[in-house]
Amino acid sequence: MVASTVSAGRTIAQISGFRMIDVLVLYYSRHGSTAAMARQIARGVEAVTGVQARLRTVPPVSAETEAVAAAVPEDGAVYATSADLRECAGLLLGSPTRFGNMAAPLKYFLDGTSDLWLSGALVGKPAAVFTSTGSLHGGQETTLLTMMMPLLHHGMLLVGLPYSEPRLSATESGGTPYGASHVAGTGAKPRALSKDEIELCQALGRRVAVAAVKLAA
Ligand SMILES: Cc1cc2nc3c(=O)[nH]c(=O)nc-3n(C[C@H](O)[C@H](O)[C@H](O)COP(=O)(O)O)c2cc1C
Repeated sequence: MVASTVSAGRTIAQISGFRMIDVLVLYYSRHGSTAAMARQIARGVEAVTGVQARLRTVPPVSAETEAVAAAVPEDGAVYATSADLRECAGLLLGSPTRFGNMAAPLKYFLDGTSDLWLSGALVGKPAAVFTSTGSLHGGQETTLLTMMMPLLHHGMLLVGLPYSEPRLSATESGGTPYGASHVAGTGAKPRALSKDEIELCQALGRRVAVAAVKLAA
């Protein structure tokens, strides 16, 4: 929940000494489906008292490796920095599936986190993953599982979706025990998130936020 400002720019949280913690929702999205998932996940994160979602993206990469992205994207979430990862109490990492794996822009960003690995900045923090695919059997699980590898190297504690979430058994679109997922379809216009996919995105955000609160206590 975003703390409300009560006086002279100070929040109830600051006055009472109560410290909000941030959970980072970090994603790449080319056509908007993974971004839509990230927004639902952020809602789940912010359903947990004392936790606020920090929504961040990464710039696209190009064959022209000297190319430098604008400092601020034209729309959507701002670009992540290594400080976002260092300061967060938990992480939800999202990518479109690209040939059964995460998209290059997100991998490129993660490849630049050696300093955090060396200092152990992410050790012991909870993390979860999410993805959007074109087709139902187009590699959601392989993408989610391989996205976990760099997080394990960083010492993060992985959180999945248990079958106690009723929609995991009921879904006929996305949703896996390894993380949230969405089937965007292969038509010209990506399909909107289904009710099951929305609920599972929010459940995953809540699970990471609850774990972050417990681990930060
Ligand atoms: C280069 C490339 C590779 C892709 N590989 C897969 C794939 O292996 N399986 C699949 O189902 N969809 C694949 N897709 C489709 C995207 O995963 C899908 O459109 C996704 O919903 C895009 O997410 P976004 O809207 O967040 O960009 C691929 C798309 C591109 C451009």
